[in-house]
Amino acid sequence: MRITNLKFPDGGINRLGFTIALGAVGLLASALVCKSRKKLSGNYILNNGRKLPCIGLGTWKSKPGEVKKAVECALRAGYRHIDCAPVYGNQKEVGEAFATVFSEGKLKRRQVFVCSKVFPKITADKFEQECRNTLRELGLEYLDLYLIHWPLVDVASIKDMWAAMEQLLEKGLVKSIGVSNFSKKKLMELMVNAKVVPAVNQVELHPNWRQDELFEYCSSKGIHLTAYCPLGSPDQFSPDGLNREATGPLPLQNSTVVSIAKECDKTAAQVLLKWAVQRGTSVVPKSVTPARIIQNFEAVQSWELSATHMKALNAFLPQYRLLHGAFHTGPKRTYKTLTELWDEDVSYLEGRTFEKPTGFKLQ
Ligand SMILES: NC(=O)c1ccc[n+]([C@@H]2O[C@H](COP(=O)([O-])OP(=O)(O)OC[C@H]3O[C@@H](n4cnc5c(N)ncnc54)[C@H](OP(=O)(O)O)[C@@H]3O)[C@@H](O)[C@H]2O)c1
Repeated sequence: MRITNLKFPDGGINRLGFTIALGAVGLLASALVCKSRKKLSGNYILNNGRKLPCIGLGTWKSKPGEVKKAVECALRAGYRHIDCAPVYGNQKEVGEAFATVFSEGKLKRRQVFVCSKVFPKITADKFEQECRNTLRELGLEYLDLYLIHWPLVDVASIKDMWAAMEQLLEKGLVKSIGVSNFSKKKLMELMVNAKVVPAVNQVELHPNWRQDELFEYCSSKGIHLTAYCPLGSPDQFSPDGLNREATGPLPLQNSTVVSIAKECDKTAAQVLLKWAVQRGTSVVPKSVTPARIIQNFEAVQSWELSATHMKALNAFLPQYRLLHGAFHTGPKRTYKTLTELWDEDVSYLEGRTFEKPTGFKLQ
């Protein structure tokens, strides 16, 4: 199965006609072309001209013993984009899946877009070693995209971390660099000293957490948004999960999503994924269930949500983060409150029960 002749509207897709340019000229050029948008079947074009497949397989929470089969299933079903991270604790097994599928000869390394992330609990001078560790685990020679996983500045500043990322790009260890969980404010801080504009910001996105302002800002700067937790991340909330209780109802159960799914003869998951791609973001749904892996891939192909459906999906209230990030705040951390982590009004979380570290403060 291949994604071809996909139709989806422009959005967050910007092209520089040259590979990543270092220095102020690069920044200026990107600012000038960021309004021009380019469609390509099944792929977004990043601000360095590289292609990002609109759907990738997420691997967070995919257990050892499950994730190899899931990645193999996805690649055989037509996925050309896999989202990884060392903190998911399963990159070695993801690498085994790559080795198996590539050895079959039908798919080449260069046909698959592999994203991984550096968790900033290390100083910036250790980023290269960390990137090499990830490459070793995955059994690859380069990454297509490398992201700063969280804007955590307990150990290194955003300026130093980004300079280290730019060096990885120069050395050819990674083809594109970006960030994850960055607010508009933190992106603006990064851009002050950046030679290279981030290609991607990977953030939580679904109809209950649209992040319209961030989306608009990133589009204006040529930064593509990838939607994580596009299905609301139901497996995050369990007695042994990262969080025990969700901060609000999950989008998969939303009655509007369910009724649109019925009208379109699709599943609720397919409606959520199609909404995200039709809006102009890429998606990285996680599944270890073969039928769902295939269903999710089919979600982004050859059908459209109507303007009425899009309008309804773009109007959900209230808006709330599901992956609230409280675990990255605390009295001994740089971000003492959740407001400081996200640079936004988090008062909607007041009075809600969710996992909170000792000494937790909302604002
Ligand atoms: N950068 C970051 O900080 C960050 C944060 C969170 C996530 N991510 C990335 O984004 C990926 C996706 O996010 P996520 O894993 O939190 O959540 P998600 O993709 O929104 O949801 C995954 C859950 O949905 C289920 N599911 C998958 N397809 C389904 C379908 N068609 N129908 C019903 N249920 C379905 C999965 O179950 P089964 O697996 O049992 O099928 C799993 O429980 C992650 O895996 C990770 O790669 C990045």
